[in-house]
Amino acid sequence: MTKKSLITCGLPYSNGNLHVGHIAGCYLPADIYVRYLRLKEKEVMFICGSDDHGVPIKLAADEQGKTPKEIATFYNKQQKKDFAGIGINFDTYGSTCDSEYHTQTSQEFFKILFDKGYFDKQSSKQFYDETSNMFLPDRYVKGTCGYCKSEDQNSDQCEECGKVLDVDNLDNAYSVLTKTPASIKETFHWYLDLTKFEDAVSNWLKTADARDHTRNFVKGLISSGLVKRSMTRDLDWGIPVPLDDEDAKDKVLYVWFDAPIGYISYTKQACQELEGNSENYKNWWKSKDTEITHFIGEDNTIFHCIIWIAMLSAEGTYQLPKSVVVNNYLNIKFPGKEEEKMSKSRGSAIWIKDYLANGGNPDTMRYYLTTVAPEKSRSVFSVEDMIQKNNSELGNALGNLVNRVLSFYKKHFGDEILLTETKVDEIDLAFENSRKEIVNHIASQLDSCNFKQAQDDLFDFIRSCNKYLDDKQPWSLRKTEPELAKAALINCMNAIYTIGSILSPFLPFTAEKIMKQLGVNETPKWKDSTKTLLNNHMLGETEILFTRIEKEEFI
Ligand code: 2FM
Ligand code: ZN
Repeated sequence: MTKKSLITCGLPYSNGNLHVGHIAGCYLPADIYVRYLRLKEKEVMFICGSDDHGVPIKLAADEQGKTPKEIATFYNKQQKKDFAGIGINFDTYGSTCDSEYHTQTSQEFFKILFDKGYFDKQSSKQFYDETSNMFLPDRYVKGTCGYCKSEDQNSDQCEECGKVLDVDNLDNAYSVLTKTPASIKETFHWYLDLTKFEDAVSNWLKTADARDHTRNFVKGLISSGLVKRSMTRDLDWGIPVPLDDEDAKDKVLYVWFDAPIGYISYTKQACQELEGNSENYKNWWKSKDTEITHFIGEDNTIFHCIIWIAMLSAEGTYQLPKSVVVNNYLNIKFPGKEEEKMSKSRGSAIWIKDYLANGGNPDTMRYYLTTVAPEKSRSVFSVEDMIQKNNSELGNALGNLVNRVLSFYKKHFGDEILLTETKVDEIDLAFENSRKEIVNHIASQLDSCNFKQAQDDLFDFIRSCNKYLDDKQPWSLRKTEPELAKAALINCMNAIYTIGSILSPFLPFTAEKIMKQLGVNETPKWKDSTKTLLNNHMLGETEILFTRIEKEEFI
């Protein structure tokens, strides 16, 4: 029996809009995968929503003179729009601060771990702002990484070397709020002792699917020894710690404790919205008939592959993820500038909202982001390269293939497919074979989450269709052997039918247009993607698929 798939994407913080780095990181690959699984007729649930708690949202609220809830709601809505604009449609897009299920699910989860004795209450040293008289959690403090000496790092994790940081290994710490040096004070927190889960995490990693860089990174962390991590914070924004203890007052759950539980809360929400019963979430989270896949960016690896696995193992009734698909960072290169890290704080990013508002084609963006997908290592988004690829790969290779085949056929043979028996030569046979092969080949690449390779190979096939057309020369053949010219064009249309079908996970808007031009109303299921157009089938209207981009007008 084929299993059902629950696919989740890292929950974006609702303190800002989405840029191309976010989309390349985990949302686009997850969307391609979900679309593919659906064409394969698998039962799939696709879950996401914003991560509203924690310091980043509180900081944005402080800066903008708004409440954290106002900020979270505003950006949650905008994110939803951006995702839809780029063709990413989740079954539900939740909000951790505005959910019917999230607070209760998170508090229950915490209580279960507490009752099972997994938390140690401990006093600890924490950064403190003497000017504003408050403890400074995580990102309210910046300083120099004690390991690699990179300056201006958040106090919880170094962006440069990826190491987890705390009071003992952040030098020159200062308060983000008042820009004064941060002092260190004692406070109580509840710690999850990750050392107790080293075996659970190692065993999970043995059977889970993960890319080599992820596997090696997690193995490295385990072998250098796991530590105790505090699961509560001194903050007034988040989910209250559900304990009857004086020291728990004014404390909230650590955002990295409640955020992944959002995957569960949002599944409840989706089950309620789609099936009218939130309890059906158990079919996804507690049933062996389902496989769970998390798509995330590299900075989320520790949280998903160690802390989340420890949390789930401690709780004991949920399934562990079958696979965690991690992409690395995407740098950016603007024309005439050096390649740099994408970052909203430094204003160096392309925003989805702006791109779409400026008339950017969502499929051009999708195509480019998969072409440069940082699946094995960090890669770079180059604006000039994107323009060049739009014009050559999308416009010349794909757009021209579809346009010249359909326009030429319609002009000389009409709007109807008219089959006749003609001689089939070696080139035709090889071409028909390659059409069948490409479908299986792309499927096996997508099964392994090799999205970039899959798309590259599909475009190789598109180029081979142009080559077939050039070899067959229907424009000259038409004058001497019109039936052979027509047959070659119909072979191409069948190839275009296959392309339109299996391209749809990658470029859904374009695939739909291609099928419409072929006169096919619905994208065929994967198993039907090598069908042939039947006699008397009526073709649709032709239209240009991609317009040339002359300069960077879309950013
Ligand atoms: O890194 C981030 O943007 C986090 N908000 C991701 C959370 S993923 C999940 F665990 F919720
Ligand atoms: Zn570092």
